[in-house]
Amino acid sequence: MSFPLYAPAEEHAMLRETVRALADEKIAPRAAAADETEEFPWDVYKALVASDLHAVHVPEQYGGAGADALATVIVIEEVARACASSSLIPAVNKLGTVPLLLSASEELKARYLAPVAGGEAMFSYALSEADAGSDAAGMKTRAVLDGDHYVLNGTKMWITNAGVSEYYTVMAVTAPGEGARGISAFVVEKSDEGVSFGPKEKKLGIKASPTRQVILENVRIPASRLIGEPGSGFKTALATLDHTRITIAAQALGIAQGALDFSIGYVKERRQFGKPISDFQGVQFMLADMAMKLEAARQLTYHAAAKSELAMHGSPQKDLTFLSSAAKCAASDAAMDITTDAVQLLGGYGYTREFPVERMMRDAKITQIYEGTNQIQRMVMARQLLK
Ligand code: CAA
Repeated sequence: MSFPLYAPAEEHAMLRETVRALADEKIAPRAAAADETEEFPWDVYKALVASDLHAVHVPEQYGGAGADALATVIVIEEVARACASSSLIPAVNKLGTVPLLLSASEELKARYLAPVAGGEAMFSYALSEADAGSDAAGMKTRAVLDGDHYVLNGTKMWITNAGVSEYYTVMAVTAPGEGARGISAFVVEKSDEGVSFGPKEKKLGIKASPTRQVILENVRIPASRLIGEPGSGFKTALATLDHTRITIAAQALGIAQGALDFSIGYVKERRQFGKPISDFQGVQFMLADMAMKLEAARQLTYHAAAKSELAMHGSPQKDLTFLSSAAKCAASDAAMDITTDAVQLLGGYGYTREFPVERMMRDAKITQIYEGTNQIQRMVMARQLLK
Protein backbone atom coordinates (compact mmCIF):
# COMPACT_ATOMS: atom_id res chain seq x y z
CA MET A 1 0.00 0.00 0.00
CA SER A 2 1.44 3.37 -0.93
CA PHE A 3 0.70 6.57 0.95
CA PRO A 4 0.81 10.01 -0.60
CA LEU A 5 3.67 11.82 1.09
CA TYR A 6 2.38 14.62 3.35
CA ALA A 7 5.08 17.02 2.28
CA PRO A 8 5.99 19.35 -0.58
CA ALA A 9 7.33 17.54 -3.65
CA GLU A 10 11.02 17.34 -4.53
CA GLU A 11 10.49 20.08 -7.14
CA HIS A 12 9.23 22.36 -4.36
CA ALA A 13 12.41 21.77 -2.36
CA MET A 14 14.53 22.48 -5.44
CA LEU A 15 12.58 25.65 -6.15
CA ARG A 16 13.17 26.79 -2.56
CA GLU A 17 16.92 26.27 -2.97
CA THR A 18 16.95 28.27 -6.20
CA VAL A 19 15.00 31.18 -4.74
CA ARG A 20 17.03 31.18 -1.53
CA ALA A 21 20.29 31.37 -3.49
CA LEU A 22 18.99 34.29 -5.54
CA ALA A 23 17.60 36.02 -2.45
CA ASP A 24 20.86 35.59 -0.52
CA GLU A 25 22.89 36.94 -3.41
CA LYS A 26 20.73 39.69 -4.88
CA ILE A 27 17.90 40.59 -2.51
CA ALA A 28 19.14 40.37 1.10
CA PRO A 29 22.10 42.72 0.49
CA ARG A 30 19.65 45.36 -0.85
CA ALA A 31 16.97 45.05 1.84
CA ALA A 32 18.27 47.59 4.38
CA ALA A 33 18.95 50.25 1.73
CA ALA A 34 15.57 49.68 0.07
CA ASP A 35 13.93 50.18 3.47
CA GLU A 36 16.03 53.25 4.21
CA THR A 37 15.53 54.99 0.85
CA GLU A 38 11.91 53.85 0.38
CA GLU A 39 12.65 53.35 -3.33
CA PHE A 40 11.09 50.51 -5.29
CA PRO A 41 13.92 47.99 -5.89
CA TRP A 42 13.91 47.83 -9.69
CA ASP A 43 17.17 45.84 -9.62
CA VAL A 44 15.44 43.16 -7.53
CA TYR A 45 12.50 43.19 -9.94
CA LYS A 46 14.90 42.66 -12.86
CA ALA A 47 16.67 39.84 -11.01
CA LEU A 48 13.33 38.15 -10.29
CA VAL A 49 12.27 38.56 -13.94
CA ALA A 50 15.60 37.14 -15.16
CA SER A 51 14.93 34.01 -13.09
CA ASP A 52 11.21 33.96 -13.97
CA LEU A 53 10.24 34.35 -10.31
CA HIS A 54 8.28 37.63 -10.49
CA ALA A 55 4.85 36.15 -11.31
CA VAL A 56 5.29 32.39 -11.12
CA HIS A 57 1.58 31.66 -10.79
CA VAL A 58 0.69 32.74 -14.36
CA PRO A 59 -0.36 29.60 -16.29
CA GLU A 60 1.84 28.37 -19.11
CA GLN A 61 -0.89 28.99 -21.70
CA TYR A 62 -0.45 32.73 -21.06
CA GLY A 63 3.33 32.56 -21.22
CA GLY A 64 3.88 32.07 -17.48
CA ALA A 65 5.87 29.59 -15.41
CA GLY A 66 2.64 27.81 -14.41
CA ALA A 67 3.74 27.27 -10.82
CA ASP A 68 1.18 25.70 -8.49
CA ALA A 69 -0.10 27.56 -5.42
CA LEU A 70 2.37 25.87 -3.07
CA ALA A 71 5.30 26.73 -5.34
CA THR A 72 4.07 30.33 -5.41
CA VAL A 73 3.94 30.34 -1.61
CA ILE A 74 7.51 29.03 -1.45
CA VAL A 75 8.77 31.75 -3.82
CA ILE A 76 7.08 34.52 -1.80
CA GLU A 77 8.28 32.98 1.47
CA GLU A 78 11.91 32.88 0.36
CA VAL A 79 11.90 36.40 -1.08
CA ALA A 80 10.24 37.71 2.12
CA ARG A 81 12.88 35.97 4.24
CA ALA A 82 15.33 38.41 2.67
CA CYS A 83 13.14 41.46 1.98
CA ALA A 84 9.41 41.80 2.67
CA SER A 85 9.00 44.76 0.28
CA SER A 86 10.44 42.70 -2.59
CA SER A 87 8.13 39.77 -1.82
CA LEU A 88 5.23 42.03 -2.80
CA ILE A 89 6.40 41.72 -6.42
CA PRO A 90 5.28 38.09 -6.87
CA ALA A 91 2.49 38.48 -4.28
CA VAL A 92 0.81 41.56 -5.79
CA ASN A 93 1.25 40.27 -9.34
CA LYS A 94 -0.82 37.32 -8.17
CA LEU A 95 -3.36 39.49 -6.33
CA GLY A 96 -3.92 41.72 -9.35
CA THR A 97 -4.31 38.87 -11.82
CA VAL A 98 -6.34 36.27 -9.90
CA PRO A 99 -9.56 38.21 -10.66
CA LEU A 100 -8.80 37.66 -14.35
CA LEU A 101 -7.90 34.02 -13.88
CA LEU A 102 -11.15 33.43 -12.00
CA SER A 103 -13.60 35.48 -14.01
CA ALA A 104 -12.30 37.21 -17.13
CA SER A 105 -12.86 36.39 -20.78
CA GLU A 106 -10.12 34.52 -22.64
CA GLU A 107 -9.45 37.69 -24.59
CA LEU A 108 -8.73 39.72 -21.44
CA LYS A 109 -6.62 36.94 -19.95
CA ALA A 110 -4.48 36.61 -23.05
CA ARG A 111 -4.06 40.36 -23.40
CA TYR A 112 -3.10 41.15 -19.82
CA LEU A 113 -1.47 38.02 -18.41
CA ALA A 114 1.22 37.71 -21.09
CA PRO A 115 2.93 41.06 -20.32
CA VAL A 116 2.89 40.21 -16.60
CA ALA A 117 4.42 36.80 -17.28
CA GLY A 118 7.01 38.41 -19.55
CA GLY A 119 8.07 40.91 -16.88
CA GLU A 120 6.94 43.91 -18.95
CA ALA A 121 4.16 44.93 -16.57
CA MET A 122 3.07 44.49 -12.97
CA PHE A 123 -0.56 44.20 -11.86
CA SER A 124 -2.13 45.72 -8.72
CA TYR A 125 -5.50 45.24 -7.04
CA ALA A 126 -7.71 48.21 -6.15
CA LEU A 127 -10.58 47.40 -3.78
CA SER A 128 -10.21 49.67 -0.71
CA GLU A 129 -11.15 53.31 -0.40
CA ALA A 130 -10.68 55.91 2.35
CA ASP A 131 -14.09 55.08 3.86
CA ALA A 132 -14.36 51.49 2.63
CA GLY A 133 -11.63 49.35 4.21
CA SER A 134 -13.01 46.41 6.19
CA ASP A 135 -16.45 47.27 4.78
CA ALA A 136 -15.20 46.96 1.23
CA ALA A 137 -18.72 46.85 -0.26
CA GLY A 138 -19.22 50.41 1.00
CA MET A 139 -17.08 51.73 -1.88
CA LYS A 140 -18.08 54.91 -3.74
CA THR A 141 -16.04 54.67 -6.95
CA ARG A 142 -18.50 54.66 -9.84
CA ALA A 143 -18.38 53.12 -13.29
CA VAL A 144 -21.08 54.32 -15.69
CA LEU A 145 -21.81 52.63 -18.99
CA ASP A 146 -21.69 55.07 -21.90
CA GLY A 147 -22.21 53.32 -25.24
CA ASP A 148 -19.50 50.71 -25.53
CA HIS A 149 -17.36 52.31 -22.83
CA TYR A 150 -17.42 52.65 -19.06
CA VAL A 151 -16.47 55.94 -17.40
CA LEU A 152 -14.84 55.57 -13.99
CA ASN A 153 -14.66 58.17 -11.23
CA GLY A 154 -13.39 57.77 -7.66
CA THR A 155 -10.31 57.28 -5.52
CA LYS A 156 -8.94 53.91 -4.47
CA MET A 157 -6.71 53.89 -1.41
CA TRP A 158 -3.90 51.77 0.09
CA ILE A 159 -3.03 50.33 -3.29
CA THR A 160 0.13 48.27 -3.07
CA ASN A 161 2.69 48.91 -5.83
CA ALA A 162 0.53 51.73 -7.20
CA GLY A 163 2.46 53.75 -9.74
CA VAL A 164 4.95 50.98 -10.52
CA SER A 165 2.22 48.66 -11.82
CA GLU A 166 0.98 49.11 -15.39
CA TYR A 167 -2.36 47.40 -14.76
CA TYR A 168 -5.02 47.55 -12.02
CA THR A 169 -8.04 45.45 -11.20
CA VAL A 170 -10.46 48.13 -10.06
CA MET A 171 -13.73 47.38 -8.29
CA ALA A 172 -16.41 50.04 -8.85
CA VAL A 173 -20.15 50.50 -8.33
CA THR A 174 -22.16 49.99 -11.53
CA ALA A 175 -25.60 49.64 -9.89
CA PRO A 176 -25.93 52.07 -6.98
CA GLY A 177 -28.24 50.92 -4.18
CA GLU A 178 -27.66 47.25 -4.87
CA GLY A 179 -24.80 46.89 -2.37
CA ALA A 180 -22.31 44.11 -3.02
CA ARG A 181 -24.35 42.94 -6.04
CA GLY A 182 -23.98 46.34 -7.70
CA ILE A 183 -20.17 46.21 -7.89
CA SER A 184 -18.21 45.27 -11.03
CA ALA A 185 -14.52 44.64 -11.69
CA PHE A 186 -12.47 46.25 -14.47
CA VAL A 187 -8.96 46.34 -15.84
CA VAL A 188 -7.59 49.88 -15.75
CA GLU A 189 -4.25 50.79 -17.27
CA LYS A 190 -1.83 53.28 -15.78
CA SER A 191 -1.70 55.02 -19.16
CA ASP A 192 -5.49 55.49 -19.40
CA GLU A 193 -6.32 59.17 -19.56
CA GLY A 194 -7.55 60.41 -16.18
CA VAL A 195 -5.53 57.94 -14.07
CA SER A 196 -3.18 59.50 -11.50
CA PHE A 197 -1.63 58.53 -8.20
CA GLY A 198 -1.53 60.10 -4.74
CA PRO A 199 1.74 60.69 -2.90
CA LYS A 200 3.50 57.66 -1.42
CA GLU A 201 2.16 56.85 2.06
CA LYS A 202 4.81 57.25 4.77
CA LYS A 203 4.66 53.83 6.35
CA LEU A 204 6.02 51.87 9.32
CA GLY A 205 7.27 49.01 7.13
CA ILE A 206 7.30 47.53 3.60
CA LYS A 207 8.75 50.91 2.74
CA ALA A 208 10.26 49.95 -0.61
CA SER A 209 6.85 48.97 -1.95
CA PRO A 210 4.87 52.09 -2.83
CA THR A 211 1.40 52.38 -1.32
CA ARG A 212 -0.58 55.13 -3.05
CA GLN A 213 -4.05 56.23 -3.98
CA VAL A 214 -5.21 55.44 -7.49
CA ILE A 215 -7.24 58.45 -8.61
CA LEU A 216 -9.73 57.97 -11.42
CA GLU A 217 -11.10 61.10 -13.08
CA ASN A 218 -13.43 60.46 -16.01
CA VAL A 219 -11.40 57.43 -17.04
CA ARG A 220 -13.03 56.12 -20.21
CA ILE A 221 -12.28 52.45 -20.87
CA PRO A 222 -13.73 49.98 -23.41
CA ALA A 223 -16.58 47.88 -21.97
CA SER A 224 -14.54 44.82 -22.95
CA ARG A 225 -12.32 45.57 -19.93
CA LEU A 226 -15.14 44.44 -17.62
CA ILE A 227 -14.03 41.32 -15.73
CA GLY A 228 -16.89 38.81 -15.75
CA GLU A 229 -20.52 39.90 -15.64
CA PRO A 230 -21.73 43.31 -14.46
CA GLY A 231 -22.46 43.04 -10.73
CA SER A 232 -20.10 40.10 -10.17
CA GLY A 233 -17.11 42.24 -9.15
CA PHE A 234 -17.44 41.98 -5.38
CA LYS A 235 -17.72 38.21 -5.49
CA THR A 236 -14.69 38.06 -7.75
CA ALA A 237 -12.85 40.34 -5.31
CA LEU A 238 -13.63 38.09 -2.32
CA ALA A 239 -13.01 34.87 -4.23
CA THR A 240 -9.61 36.33 -5.17
CA LEU A 241 -8.77 36.94 -1.51
CA ASP A 242 -9.57 33.27 -0.79
CA HIS A 243 -6.48 32.49 -2.88
CA THR A 244 -4.27 35.44 -2.08
CA ARG A 245 -4.63 35.66 1.71
CA ILE A 246 -2.51 32.50 1.49
CA THR A 247 0.24 34.49 -0.21
CA ILE A 248 0.17 37.05 2.62
CA ALA A 249 0.55 34.10 4.98
CA ALA A 250 3.58 33.11 2.88
CA GLN A 251 5.03 36.59 3.22
CA ALA A 252 4.55 36.45 7.00
CA LEU A 253 6.23 33.03 7.17
CA GLY A 254 9.22 34.34 5.24
CA ILE A 255 9.64 37.42 7.44
CA ALA A 256 9.38 35.24 10.55
CA GLN A 257 11.89 32.70 9.19
CA GLY A 258 14.34 35.49 8.44
CA ALA A 259 14.02 36.78 12.01
CA LEU A 260 14.34 33.31 13.54
CA ASP A 261 17.39 32.40 11.46
CA PHE A 262 19.10 35.66 12.35
CA SER A 263 18.31 35.20 16.06
CA ILE A 264 19.71 31.67 16.13
CA GLY A 265 22.99 32.86 14.64
CA TYR A 266 23.15 35.77 17.04
CA VAL A 267 22.50 33.93 20.32
CA LYS A 268 25.27 31.45 19.53
CA GLU A 269 27.75 34.30 19.07
CA ARG A 270 26.66 36.74 21.74
CA ARG A 271 28.41 36.05 25.07
CA GLN A 272 27.26 37.25 28.49
CA PHE A 273 28.18 35.95 31.97
CA GLY A 274 31.07 34.10 30.34
CA LYS A 275 29.08 31.98 27.88
CA PRO A 276 26.99 32.22 24.73
CA ILE A 277 23.45 33.38 25.58
CA SER A 278 22.16 30.31 23.72
CA ASP A 279 23.26 28.33 26.82
CA PHE A 280 20.53 29.98 28.88
CA GLN A 281 17.30 28.06 29.14
CA GLY A 282 15.25 31.27 29.00
CA VAL A 283 16.70 31.98 25.56
CA GLN A 284 16.29 28.36 24.43
CA PHE A 285 12.60 28.37 25.40
CA MET A 286 12.05 31.56 23.40
CA LEU A 287 13.66 30.00 20.32
CA ALA A 288 11.63 26.82 20.71
CA ASP A 289 8.37 28.79 20.92
CA MET A 290 9.31 30.89 17.88
CA ALA A 291 10.09 27.82 15.78
CA MET A 292 6.97 25.99 16.99
CA LYS A 293 4.64 28.87 16.07
CA LEU A 294 6.33 29.23 12.70
CA GLU A 295 6.08 25.57 11.78
CA ALA A 296 2.42 25.38 12.86
CA ALA A 297 1.57 28.38 10.68
CA ARG A 298 3.60 26.95 7.80
CA GLN A 299 1.73 23.64 7.81
CA LEU A 300 -1.62 25.45 7.81
CA THR A 301 -0.48 27.69 4.97
CA TYR A 302 0.75 24.80 2.83
CA HIS A 303 -2.49 22.93 3.45
CA ALA A 304 -4.47 26.03 2.41
CA ALA A 305 -2.24 26.38 -0.69
CA ALA A 306 -2.98 22.80 -1.70
CA LYS A 307 -6.71 23.56 -1.40
CA SER A 308 -6.28 26.76 -3.41
CA GLU A 309 -4.61 24.80 -6.18
CA LEU A 310 -7.47 22.29 -6.33
CA ALA A 311 -10.05 25.09 -6.35
CA MET A 312 -8.24 26.90 -9.17
CA HIS A 313 -8.48 23.74 -11.26
CA GLY A 314 -12.20 23.23 -11.14
CA SER A 315 -12.52 21.30 -7.89
CA PRO A 316 -14.33 23.65 -5.47
CA GLN A 317 -13.11 23.37 -1.86
CA LYS A 318 -15.78 24.21 0.70
CA ASP A 319 -13.24 25.03 3.39
CA LEU A 320 -10.95 27.26 1.25
CA THR A 321 -12.44 30.50 2.61
CA PHE A 322 -11.91 29.30 6.19
CA LEU A 323 -8.43 27.96 5.55
CA SER A 324 -7.12 31.00 3.71
CA SER A 325 -8.31 33.32 6.49
CA ALA A 326 -6.93 30.93 9.12
CA ALA A 327 -3.54 30.70 7.39
CA LYS A 328 -3.25 34.48 6.94
CA CYS A 329 -4.29 35.11 10.52
CA ALA A 330 -2.11 32.40 12.10
CA ALA A 331 0.98 33.20 10.03
CA SER A 332 0.77 36.97 10.51
CA ASP A 333 0.14 36.69 14.26
CA ALA A 334 3.07 34.27 14.47
CA ALA A 335 5.28 36.63 12.44
CA MET A 336 4.48 39.54 14.76
CA ASP A 337 5.30 37.45 17.84
CA ILE A 338 8.45 35.94 16.33
CA THR A 339 9.91 39.18 15.03
CA THR A 340 9.18 40.93 18.34
CA ASP A 341 10.96 38.11 20.18
CA ALA A 342 13.86 38.38 17.72
CA VAL A 343 14.29 42.04 18.64
CA GLN A 344 14.16 41.02 22.31
CA LEU A 345 16.84 38.35 21.82
CA LEU A 346 19.18 40.89 20.26
CA GLY A 347 18.51 43.35 23.10
CA GLY A 348 19.70 46.90 22.46
CA TYR A 349 21.31 45.82 19.18
CA GLY A 350 17.97 44.47 17.97
CA TYR A 351 16.45 47.91 18.44
CA THR A 352 18.90 49.51 16.01
CA ARG A 353 18.98 49.59 12.24
CA GLU A 354 22.45 48.00 12.33
CA PHE A 355 20.61 44.68 12.51
CA PRO A 356 17.74 43.47 10.30
CA VAL A 357 15.30 42.30 12.97
CA GLU A 358 13.74 45.70 13.74
CA ARG A 359 12.94 46.01 10.01
CA MET A 360 11.43 42.54 10.05
CA MET A 361 9.30 43.49 13.07
CA ARG A 362 8.06 46.63 11.29
CA ASP A 363 7.42 44.67 8.08
CA ALA A 364 5.56 41.90 9.93
CA LYS A 365 2.96 44.33 11.25
CA ILE A 366 1.32 44.94 7.88
CA THR A 367 0.60 41.23 7.44
CA GLN A 368 -1.89 41.49 10.32
CA ILE A 369 -3.61 44.38 8.55
CA TYR A 370 -3.76 44.06 4.77
CA GLU A 371 -5.87 41.71 2.65
CA GLY A 372 -8.32 42.06 5.53
CA THR A 373 -7.40 42.79 9.15
CA ASN A 374 -7.02 39.78 11.39
CA GLN A 375 -10.28 40.83 13.06
CA ILE A 376 -11.97 40.48 9.64
CA GLN A 377 -10.29 37.08 9.18
CA ARG A 378 -11.75 35.92 12.49
CA MET A 379 -15.16 37.19 11.37
CA VAL A 380 -14.82 35.31 8.07
CA MET A 381 -13.81 32.12 9.89
CA ALA A 382 -16.67 32.40 12.39
CA ARG A 383 -19.18 32.96 9.56
CA GLN A 384 -17.95 29.76 7.92
CA LEU A 385 -18.27 27.82 11.17
CA LEU A 386 -21.78 29.06 11.92
CA LYS A 387 -23.14 28.79 8.36
N1 CAA B 1 -16.07 34.17 -2.44
C1 CAA B 1 -17.07 34.52 -3.31
N2 CAA B 1 -18.17 35.21 -2.92
C2 CAA B 1 -18.25 35.55 -1.62
C3 CAA B 1 -17.26 35.21 -0.68
C4 CAA B 1 -16.13 34.49 -1.13
N3 CAA B 1 -15.16 34.14 -0.30
N4 CAA B 1 -17.63 35.67 0.53
C5 CAA B 1 -18.82 36.28 0.36
N5 CAA B 1 -19.19 36.20 -0.94
C6 CAA B 1 -20.40 36.74 -1.56
C7 CAA B 1 -21.63 36.52 -0.68
O1 CAA B 1 -22.22 35.26 -0.91
C8 CAA B 1 -22.51 37.68 -1.08
O2 CAA B 1 -23.17 37.36 -2.27
P1 CAA B 1 -24.80 37.28 -2.35
O3 CAA B 1 -25.27 38.65 -1.99
O4 CAA B 1 -25.10 36.92 -3.77
O5 CAA B 1 -25.20 36.25 -1.35
C9 CAA B 1 -21.53 38.78 -1.40
O6 CAA B 1 -20.28 38.15 -1.68
C10 CAA B 1 -21.34 39.76 -0.26
O7 CAA B 1 -20.92 39.00 0.86
P2 CAA B 1 -21.19 39.46 2.34
O8 CAA B 1 -22.64 39.81 2.50
O9 CAA B 1 -20.61 38.46 3.25
O10 CAA B 1 -20.37 40.83 2.36
P3 CAA B 1 -20.06 41.83 3.53
O11 CAA B 1 -20.30 43.20 3.03
O12 CAA B 1 -20.71 41.39 4.80
O13 CAA B 1 -18.44 41.74 3.67
C11 CAA B 1 -16.35 40.90 4.34
C12 CAA B 1 -17.75 40.62 3.80
C13 CAA B 1 -15.81 39.52 4.65
C14 CAA B 1 -16.33 41.75 5.58
C15 CAA B 1 -15.52 41.57 3.22
O14 CAA B 1 -15.97 42.90 3.00
C16 CAA B 1 -14.06 41.61 3.54
O15 CAA B 1 -13.35 40.62 3.33
N6 CAA B 1 -13.54 42.77 4.03
C17 CAA B 1 -12.14 42.98 4.15
C18 CAA B 1 -11.65 43.67 2.92
C19 CAA B 1 -10.28 43.27 2.53
O16 CAA B 1 -9.83 42.14 2.75
N7 CAA B 1 -9.59 44.18 1.90
C20 CAA B 1 -8.31 43.89 1.42
C21 CAA B 1 -7.89 44.91 0.47
S1 CAA B 1 -6.67 44.29 -0.64
C22 CAA B 1 -5.18 44.50 0.10
O17 CAA B 1 -5.05 44.78 1.23
C23 CAA B 1 -4.08 44.18 -0.81
C24 CAA B 1 -2.75 44.68 -0.51
O18 CAA B 1 -2.51 45.80 -0.15
C25 CAA B 1 -1.61 43.78 -0.74
